[in-house]
Amino acid sequence: MELLETRQKEIVGFASEKNIVLDKRAIEILEGADFRKIIEEWRIENPNAFVLESKDIEAKINAQKAPLFEQKTVVETKVFRADARGMQKKVRFLSEYDVTGQSNSEGTVKNFLALFQKKFDLLSEMLKKRHTLQPKQISKLRAVPKNSQVDVIGMVFKKWVTKNGHLAFQLEDKEASCIAMIMKTEQNLLKIGELVLPDNVIGVKGVKFGEEMIIIKEILMPDLPLRKVKTIPEEVSIASTSDLHVGSKLFLEKKFYEFLEWINGRIDSEKEREKVSKIKYLVISGDNVDGLGIYPTQFNDLNIKDIGKQYEGFCHLMKEIPEYIEVFIIPGQHDAVRWADPKPAVPKEFTKELETYSNIHFLGSPTWLEIEGFKTLIYHGDCLHDLIGHASTLDSSRPSEAMVELLKKRDLMPSYGMSHPYVPEKKDFMVIKEEPDLVYIGDMHHNNYAEYRGARVINSGTWQAQTAYQVKLGHTPTPGIVPIVELNTGKIIETKFIKTEGE
Ligand SMILES: [Fe+2]
Repeated sequence: MELLETRQKEIVGFASEKNIVLDKRAIEILEGADFRKIIEEWRIENPNAFVLESKDIEAKINAQKAPLFEQKTVVETKVFRADARGMQKKVRFLSEYDVTGQSNSEGTVKNFLALFQKKFDLLSEMLKKRHTLQPKQISKLRAVPKNSQVDVIGMVFKKWVTKNGHLAFQLEDKEASCIAMIMKTEQNLLKIGELVLPDNVIGVKGVKFGEEMIIIKEILMPDLPLRKVKTIPEEVSIASTSDLHVGSKLFLEKKFYEFLEWINGRIDSEKEREKVSKIKYLVISGDNVDGLGIYPTQFNDLNIKDIGKQYEGFCHLMKEIPEYIEVFIIPGQHDAVRWADPKPAVPKEFTKELETYSNIHFLGSPTWLEIEGFKTLIYHGDCLHDLIGHASTLDSSRPSEAMVELLKKRDLMPSYGMSHPYVPEKKDFMVIKEEPDLVYIGDMHHNNYAEYRGARVINSGTWQAQTAYQVKLGHTPTPGIVPIVELNTGKIIETKFIKTEGE
């Protein structure tokens, strides 16, 4: 009796160290199990939850019977026939916007100059379409009388705060440059100015102040036109996910298997089966594996220490996705491609196993396609770190808001020379040339959605538990949440495989 009480105390003590409360039945079940392993795993999967219930422990004990990447124990509930199985796929790849097979940069100064000139041409053309802007060439500024209104388009060469606290920009077009300044009293304009980074192409409406100086009254971005969220009559959906990090000790493999069971319709809930039945497309926004040598101490954080084997594991999981679902997979910084943007698709040598799976498509980042007529941009999200790091109004837990700022800039290379590198390709792959209806991103491990001028922005979360690095940054990820865009309603609905705080 005493021994039993000691073990119960040990269980309760261990749980309370992890900030977890157990009910009576839960303690009883844990007495006969490896309670430390179960509690520790549950804490990783449920970083914000407080009460560990007996049903969760039972589910965990059952799940632990399955070994790594070999789970095939399928319990057929009712016969499931998805509506999407009978639907024709409607996909058009806009391959001209994908660097895969088109990388021809020599990395020369000439390449860089050409890239910046191309970017200026593309973005200034978009700005010229803004009817409120009547831009003059900067070289003609001298001829404009002092104190009169003047508009210009320029690329930001330099940005600084003056001795008197005003925010100044040196703007350049192809021939000349000028100084444009936001006065320190203009609070609203300063907030917009904070989001303008060196290398951005902007339109300025202002008043001529000095020989080559403008006081800014309004900043215009290339921007998207005003549009409504697009819908179609067909009841068809796109599911999305991201950042699996296969190979990491923190990859939530068992939870991912629950996702695979779900997407195959092997679930009891009629409501969920109905939801799954409409899924015809799946977008995966990068960091498919954890990679090797991504950061100095990564080796200790890996379950699979061989990049080839990490991809074998990833491919094994992808094979479980029903063949009637079209899957679009792009790389992230952890994949076996270059760190710099634009990134080509994961090389075929790593995805050989999926060669015969015609529904699975490996694409670059960024990439563009049309799904059921929805212009879709898929991008891992690498450059968002630089933007978020330079703007007090943005936060890595709301990556979709940062993405909206990139849509306003119409540019996935907001600034060159900050922490994220770019390859100066002869063709510009980073300017957002099209007007997207759907924008999929990943990278921040945080589910988050936004809508801007008819574009739905979706950050699809992760399957990796909170990393030590994220703990240090105070960043809480949202693993195991899968968003679905219903193309007939325009709504985004979620299925949660891991509960969040308060649920
Ligand atoms: Fe990631």
